[in-house]
Amino acid sequence: MKYLDVEGIGKVSRIGLGTWQFGSIEWGYGDRYASGAARDIVQRALALGVTLFDTAEIYGLGKSERILGEALGDKRTEVVVASKIMPVAPFPPVIKQRERASARRLGLQRIPLYQIHQPNPVVPDSVIMPGMRDLLDSGAIGAAGVSNYSLARWQKADAALGRPVISNQVHFSLAHPRPLEDLVPFAERENRIVIAYSPLAQGLLGGKYGVDNRPGGIRAVNPLFGTENLRRIEPLLGALRDIAAQVGAKPAQVALAWLISLPGVVAIPGASSVEQLEFNAAAADIELSADARDALTEAARAFRPVPMRRFVTDLVRQRLVRR
Ligand SMILES: NC(=O)c1ccc[n+]([C@@H]2O[C@H](COP(=O)([O-])OP(=O)(O)OC[C@H]3O[C@@H](n4cnc5c(N)ncnc54)[C@H](OP(=O)(O)O)[C@@H]3O)[C@@H](O)[C@H]2O)c1
Repeated sequence: MKYLDVEGIGKVSRIGLGTWQFGSIEWGYGDRYASGAARDIVQRALALGVTLFDTAEIYGLGKSERILGEALGDKRTEVVVASKIMPVAPFPPVIKQRERASARRLGLQRIPLYQIHQPNPVVPDSVIMPGMRDLLDSGAIGAAGVSNYSLARWQKADAALGRPVISNQVHFSLAHPRPLEDLVPFAERENRIVIAYSPLAQGLLGGKYGVDNRPGGIRAVNPLFGTENLRRIEPLLGALRDIAAQVGAKPAQVALAWLISLPGVVAIPGASSVEQLEFNAAAADIELSADARDALTEAARAFRPVPMRRFVTDLVRQRLVRR
């Protein structure tokens, strides 16, 4: 495993574990996963040196935090648990009360990284961040982060907090490489971290899905799994498969290795099995050549998914034809 030393948080593994899948109906993994596999995945992750575990109050409406806290057991205070608040009425007393509720579910006194799940379109950070500052000052959290913030809003959040907002958790993968343009250079320059979520494009970069094999649940409405996008992404998947064959790894591992080869970037893939978690953790040890990284970056930038509107029209048309 590889690590980044992050102020206020400590040793952050470059491959973490995302736990949206734990106890939330959107993924459709069921009760047996929530009560069995999820725990095994966390324990194997600990054994493999994973120290970053991402969750949120909204995942399974608190179930993910509970499952994660229980699965970590005695180790929960030794790792970097990162949770998130959905900023509905994000006024300081509400933020404090919600952070305490998350900490209780996790079985923690202090949450190492506490993040604003998404920018509130109406309430500015000048209103939100004083609550985060109070949490930092009281020691209830180790560091403040944001998620789904543009660079401009991240900088505004910094100013409102009066100190660095240490991380920004964003949609980032070979299939969605936009953070390359601004967030990654900013993180490198300012010594911050970009936490890449959906780093495997919700499993698409694993290479097993196609027009005749699409996942259900939340992914049935992910435009990336639409017919036209599955066609358009083929050159990128082809590049991924070629490089995976060259380095003797799986496509999913190469997708993760590409992300964490970037300065200040860590990835938090979810996993449906212990085996996937093992492959994902092992991706930290894959060294890609500069040529391989450049080829992947070029293929990522060349992928132009269809807009949401076209995806919805295609979906409706396909459903009508099937009737
Ligand atoms: N801040 C936010 O707004 C936000 C949004 C989304 C996610 N997140 C966080 O980011 C985490 C990860 O994102 P995500 O879960 O959306 O997507 P992801 O990590 O890109 O995809 C996870 C899925 O990919 C498949 N997979 C995992 N490892 C694999 C491997 N080695 N080979 C092949 N397939 C593999 C599994 O699904 P199957 O086996 O079923 O195919 C797994 O459930 C979440 O758990 C959550 O913590 C945050």
